[in-house]
Amino acid sequence: MPLDALFSPFTFKGLTLPNRVVMAPMTRSASPDGVPTDEVAAYYARRAAAGVGLIVSEGTGVARPASLNDPNIPKFHGEAELAGWKRVIDAVHAAGGLMAPQLWHVGAVRTHRKDWTPPGPYDSPSGISSPGHRFGEPMSDADIADAIAAFASAAASAKALGYDAVELHGAHGYLIDQFFWDGTNERGDLFGGPTIGHRASFAAEILRAVRTAVGPDYPVIIRLSQWKQQDFAAKLAPSPADMEAWLQPLADAGADAFHCSQRRFWEPEFDGSDLNFAGWAKKITGKAAITVGSVGLTGEFIAAYAGEASKPASLDRLIAMLERGDFDLVAVGRALLQDPLWAEKVRDGRNHELLDFERSAMATLY
Ligand SMILES: Cc1cc2nc3c(=O)[nH]c(=O)nc-3n(C[C@H](O)[C@H](O)[C@H](O)COP(=O)(O)O)c2cc1C
Repeated sequence: MPLDALFSPFTFKGLTLPNRVVMAPMTRSASPDGVPTDEVAAYYARRAAAGVGLIVSEGTGVARPASLNDPNIPKFHGEAELAGWKRVIDAVHAAGGLMAPQLWHVGAVRTHRKDWTPPGPYDSPSGISSPGHRFGEPMSDADIADAIAAFASAAASAKALGYDAVELHGAHGYLIDQFFWDGTNERGDLFGGPTIGHRASFAAEILRAVRTAVGPDYPVIIRLSQWKQQDFAAKLAPSPADMEAWLQPLADAGADAFHCSQRRFWEPEFDGSDLNFAGWAKKITGKAAITVGSVGLTGEFIAAYAGEASKPASLDRLIAMLERGDFDLVAVGRALLQDPLWAEKVRDGRNHELLDFERSAMATLY
């Protein structure tokens, strides 16, 4: 199948990407004390040099005491941390790439580390990590205001450092998603309520604050998912009308692109249509949409954590959906983790050189 749809330029909010391949955000836990190293810069630059259109960084913490659940995940605040991120963007630009940091707050999610706890209380809408599980205390109004300001300040830093765009991590059951989900948000104030429209207020306030911080012309992406790590079957929006109630306020608040996280990009979002999540986000809001999930691989990423290997898979279906205009950009995770040259190999038809995905790739920073 011709690859032109995947390797044609795309412009949103004044940012022109040379092709449609986005590197998906992938946590690497390789930044001691939150400071990205030269190895981290080289890891991203390697992908930039080999034809990735836009790199989204691993999730990186905003300035709240418990925004991260591991001390080796990078932070996006503090002098040494931002100096590290400056080296990253300079390396990516020198290699001809474009990059957005993914700004992250994990919320009520336990650390996997036995020897470490975050240096302050956990943040969450209602002190619940998943339905029926108490975890920490609900955020106060002051906590919420500070968290919103922390996202805005990190976005301003991204722009000041020279990043080409910024992405907010609003997916997978972390803080912003804990506000979206009625399973973790029981607030009765402005930031909670019976509908997804009510529960989108926290994300909308963050987007408004980010927009004010970066100005009208800077590209802002938000990553969302229906599924959560706490419940793979959860659906924030069980119908197109609910999806509109969820996404339109975010578009109105300043989101330029929706990064729609699915585990398998080809799965339709609602009965009666073969559009996937990104397809619906684009149709509803008219904004740019990024799809993701098992692109170019036979298996999906949660199973990969459990050790499942994947083989290279055909891109025909993806390209047909892209050609049809369902979505604009395609994020690729594990295939690019395994192989920095993935985009270049696909572009040049070197299919016989594509690699199997092995779990061991998650433990290295090549
Ligand atoms: C090692 C690893 C780390 C990840 N870390 C993040 C992250 O920091 N932020 C995020 O939004 N998604 C994260 N994800 C999810 C990926 O961005 C992507 O959505 C998922 O891997 C599916 O894409 P794939 O099938 O192409 O791998 C991670 C995935 C993997 C495999």
